[in-house]
Amino acid sequence: FFTRIYMLMVVLIGFMGAGKSTVGRIVADLLGVSFVDTDVFIERHEGRTIREMFDLHGEAYFRQIERAAVTELLEDRASVLALGGGAPMDREIRALLGGHTVVYLHVPYEQALVRVHGDSYRPLLHGSGVRQIYDSRMPVYESTATIRVETDGRRPDDVAREVLHRL
Ligand code: S3P
Repeated sequence: FFTRIYMLMVVLIGFMGAGKSTVGRIVADLLGVSFVDTDVFIERHEGRTIREMFDLHGEAYFRQIERAAVTELLEDRASVLALGGGAPMDREIRALLGGHTVVYLHVPYEQALVRVHGDSYRPLLHGSGVRQIYDSRMPVYESTATIRVETDGRRPDDVAREVLHRL
């Protein structure tokens, strides 16, 4: 059992506000492995915020950086990795996820908005069409994941425990 867990990389996907970072950190602590948030990794690596990358160079530029970062991070076999909400939309990233344990944290649209309310950090929340983005991503999250966990009305540690039980 421990050998299996040790070799396991758990990848968390889901919409902004699903709780990927919060739940991911708890799961990593419980497993005793490291936790990496791809957004944080990218910002450190690039020396600027995601918002600045979007503003200065556009979303396509950010996606390119994100793809390179996820490729690198997936090589670390024993950790929990939280992907940015848009990462699974990239075909190359989806291909890299094959063979990994991919956990989809589901959050209903209205709840996602409540959780990220007042956030000035995530550029995509401030355009119109957030609902459209949400709707277009749901089927991709569903088909990419190996495990789906509901987060609505639940505390992060409760969600994390379910993730652990289902690995
Ligand atoms: C994005 C989600 C963000 C971040 C960027 C784009 C998206 O990550 O990668 O702002 O396209 O949904 P979180 O899901 O951690 O907020």
